[in-house]
Amino acid sequence: MIFYPDRKIFKNSRIKNMCEYRNLVEDFKEDYEGTWAKYARIKLDWIRPFTKTLDESNAPFYKWFIGGKLNASVQCIDRHLKDKKNKTAIIWEADDGSRKFVTYLELHKEVNRFANLLKSLGVKKGDRVVIYMPMILEAAYAMLACARIGAIHSVVFGGFSADALKDRILDAQAKVVITADGAFRKGKAYMLKPVVDEAIKDVECVEKVVVVERNGEDINWTNRDVSYEELIKLQSSKCDPEIMDSEDPLFLLYTSGSTGKPKGVQHSTAGYMLWAQMTMENVFDLRDNDTFWCTADIGWITGHTYIIYGPLAAGATTLMFEGVFTYPDAGRAWRMVEEYQVNQFYTAPTAIRLLHKLGADEPKKYDLASLRVLGTVGEPIDPEAWMWYYEEVGQGKCPIVDTWWQTETGGHMITPIASATPIKPASATFPLPGIFAEIIDEEGNKVKPNEKGLLCITKPWPSMIRTIWNDPQRFVNSYFSTAKKDGKAVYFSGDGAIYDEDGYIFITGRVDDVINVSGHRLGTAEIEAVIKKVDLVAENAVVGKPDEIKGESIFAYIVLKGEDNLATEVEVLQKINEAISKEIGNIAKVDSIAIVPALPKTRSGKIMRRILRSIAKGEEITQDISTLEDPSIVEKIQNIVKG
Ligand code: WTA
Repeated sequence: MIFYPDRKIFKNSRIKNMCEYRNLVEDFKEDYEGTWAKYARIKLDWIRPFTKTLDESNAPFYKWFIGGKLNASVQCIDRHLKDKKNKTAIIWEADDGSRKFVTYLELHKEVNRFANLLKSLGVKKGDRVVIYMPMILEAAYAMLACARIGAIHSVVFGGFSADALKDRILDAQAKVVITADGAFRKGKAYMLKPVVDEAIKDVECVEKVVVVERNGEDINWTNRDVSYEELIKLQSSKCDPEIMDSEDPLFLLYTSGSTGKPKGVQHSTAGYMLWAQMTMENVFDLRDNDTFWCTADIGWITGHTYIIYGPLAAGATTLMFEGVFTYPDAGRAWRMVEEYQVNQFYTAPTAIRLLHKLGADEPKKYDLASLRVLGTVGEPIDPEAWMWYYEEVGQGKCPIVDTWWQTETGGHMITPIASATPIKPASATFPLPGIFAEIIDEEGNKVKPNEKGLLCITKPWPSMIRTIWNDPQRFVNSYFSTAKKDGKAVYFSGDGAIYDEDGYIFITGRVDDVINVSGHRLGTAEIEAVIKKVDLVAENAVVGKPDEIKGESIFAYIVLKGEDNLATEVEVLQKINEAISKEIGNIAKVDSIAIVPALPKTRSGKIMRRILRSIAKGEEITQDISTLEDPSIVEKIQNIVKG
């Protein structure tokens, strides 16, 4: 089944049909650098123009727009002051339903004052600032204030534990942490500041902690802490933007990989901003008076690119939401769409499945006529959830852009263009013009239709990850060591995918040891390392198990210490989750475990994870198990898991 965009609705859009799409693709094929240069000149406000488009001399450490100077906060704010100063830049709705509307002029003042506040604490260009905040306006101001003075922000999702926060602070050697006392969720106050206190107990690099007051609960003030409310009053609302090089880092964002600790994905200023803005405009068919709602948290890349940088660079009105969809009832999201006349609604499949399950008929109770485009991101969406989203939320008239991309890609890569692309449910369809995404084998051969291959990007693109902070070798190993094309290492995403007969791309999910729980990336190695430290546990292996709402849930195979250990599953699970909550955070909690006598290992001692994944999914074991040290273990484990 194919769903076509309604010509009447999209007749004045930037990209009106597939013919125009193909022409754009051709432009990039014919003159790759020239076409990127053209858009960079049109879209970005340069303080000084760049002199060279792409430097490939030190591949895969590509550089873009060499010699150019700009500032991301100017791109997001200052340049709109001429004709949009009284336009609402951000609408913020709190957990309790109260709201604030911030114009571009007000945003300019707030960001400048925050920038001066950071300067008064000694923050300079190139310094790292960790932002550990709830979804409040000050979080947006903080990110943009860093951008204004050239400090590199690293936003850490508020659900991470003190240990996880500490790792990220130390890795980046952050000078300042910005946080809040806490915030509200489902009408109740929760705390963040105590987590920061715990995280930086023995950390020397942090000189100051800026504390924003949100929930007014009592907190412990130390001599490193400063009050945002007290200091902000003293600041001038004029702060000249730092002149940044195209390649100066704009931010770090830590994400999970298949091995070791989280990686500090480093993004550039010019390339990232260009693609944030272009994808915002093209993919979502953004128009002048649109109100755009991306429901992500700013702690993830989706929040960075499609709540803050993309919408603001494009001069849109962006909606930021502190609360959760299920509070006070399952109609919350739709009531907000109606109230703010939202035109684009962008969320994750896990949220769609939840909303579907909790209130399939809720959308009917609201006037959702303002919606023009729907979007999803973060994990594959199943056809059932897709159809409900299309019919009930979009009322059969809104294209769904199923956007495939990653923390590392900065912005959308493979996705329908709302105004142009004929859509097949659950397909991310085609690469955007300028993006050379291909499904290939390790030698670079394109796979045949319906044959699974590696999803790779075969040419550099402006918003690509520049390196892993402090670990360039890991950058090369993680992304440029799996696949080659024409003898040259190409970017491998970690995802598998297929083409169908018509060339539509379907993402099949991670092929490495990363699992995707409710659209959040978690490395199994990270979770296993924590479980291994639990007293009772001798060995363990973590895999993803299909889950109706979360996409995948976390499943662990546990071998206990001592032959006749009588600990029960409930006890072991509880101990494991205490450890995980402390070291990573509740988002990585294990959902279920199986206590097994041993793990399936090859004679050389390697755990055969593929078998464990198949067992968790309830699949038949088709792989050869004769190379296992003890092939009989497979059946034993299967019986335990089946119960
Ligand atoms: C998965 C989120 C299927 C994929 C922007 C990728 C998707 C990982 C989709 C990146 C999609 C993201 N369809 N899978 N539309 N979008 N993914 O870094 O496995 O949090 O590698 O970035 O999410 O997750 P990340």
